[in-house]
Amino acid sequence: MKALILCGGSGTRLRPITHTMAKQLVPIANKPVLFYGLEAIKEAGVEDVGIVVGETAKEIIQAVGDGSPWGLRVEYIHQEQPLGLAHAVLTAEDYLGTDEFVMYLGDNLIKDGIKGLVDEFRQNKPNSQILLARVPEPQRFGVAELAGGKVVRLVEKPEKPASDLALVGVYMFDGNIMDACKAIKPSSRGELEITDAIQWLIDQGRVVDPHIIGGWWKDTGRLDDMLEANRIMLETMEPRVEGHVDSESRTEGMVVIEKGAEVICSTIRGPAIIGEGTKIVNSYVGPYTSIYFDVTITGSEIEHSIILEKSSVTDIPGRIEDSLIGQNVEVGRSPLKPNAYRFMLGDNSRVGIL
Ligand code: TTP
Repeated sequence: MKALILCGGSGTRLRPITHTMAKQLVPIANKPVLFYGLEAIKEAGVEDVGIVVGETAKEIIQAVGDGSPWGLRVEYIHQEQPLGLAHAVLTAEDYLGTDEFVMYLGDNLIKDGIKGLVDEFRQNKPNSQILLARVPEPQRFGVAELAGGKVVRLVEKPEKPASDLALVGVYMFDGNIMDACKAIKPSSRGELEITDAIQWLIDQGRVVDPHIIGGWWKDTGRLDDMLEANRIMLETMEPRVEGHVDSESRTEGMVVIEKGAEVICSTIRGPAIIGEGTKIVNSYVGPYTSIYFDVTITGSEIEHSIILEKSSVTDIPGRIEDSLIGQNVEVGRSPLKPNAYRFMLGDNSRVGIL
């Protein structure tokens, strides 16, 4: 069995961050989203991984390499344009051949992994098996209708959902999926949809099994989802201090201070993680915050946020909340004082607060 991880796409919902970086590499609790997927695939016993890459191919390849740090054998498949998930499968035809494979959307995070799904597929050998989760607002998702324990219909964002079972971004397929992807036509948004391909399998009498998960999962394609994912993953961590916390500082709750980080005259209230080489001086870092490497925070307060590498936040009055700050961003001081700040800043941005 192989794995196919999809890391093409255009990431419009996470602009401007995605103008300059792959959304699959945005760190959640200081680890790129994609790395959680690689770990889950390895844990499920799959070692041959094809990664579909698009515009951000270079940085994905740089981050993952040949996959050996995860015990995986990784190859890259270039998709010229993000023409849909089924199009990505067709692009990978030479790599996949007629093998069975697990398809994993590179921006999805499934807290309990995918071993259960992969094991069940291996055992029952349906033509396809799809990961489903019960959601409160099914009309926002692809929704599955079941009958007699099988999937009988898939509808993208239905106005009147037939169930509350949403498609999570992980799918199992055997070789039949290639015929399905070749048979379907682009949807109204111009993409070859994987839901249409699976519906084609069902209409041809193939067996499509559901696998319902109870655990937490997230498609991290939007800012709020990233922050939620960050919150959930921070809660699963163990505290550790590998950097330096001076005697004037306090850490409370689940706090990780990575190697070479310095905390001076500051309070870190967990769950929070402070990355390698990062400096926190005269500041407060509150719950659900991940600060990546080589960041400097001076005289400021921040919580429920993610800050990427090499950025700085200096002397900001009021508290920064609910923010995703890109790479190399400088947030500096200006005279007036609003009470709250909400940012979604692209890489290399410079912001002066009023
Ligand atoms: P989406 O999040 O559905 O699409 P997108 O990345 O284009 O984002 P947006 O809707 O914000 O513009 O894609 C899910 C995953 O699949 C994501 O990791 C990107 C990947 N993908 C491909 O590899 N090829 C494709 O053709 C598409 C559409 C997505």
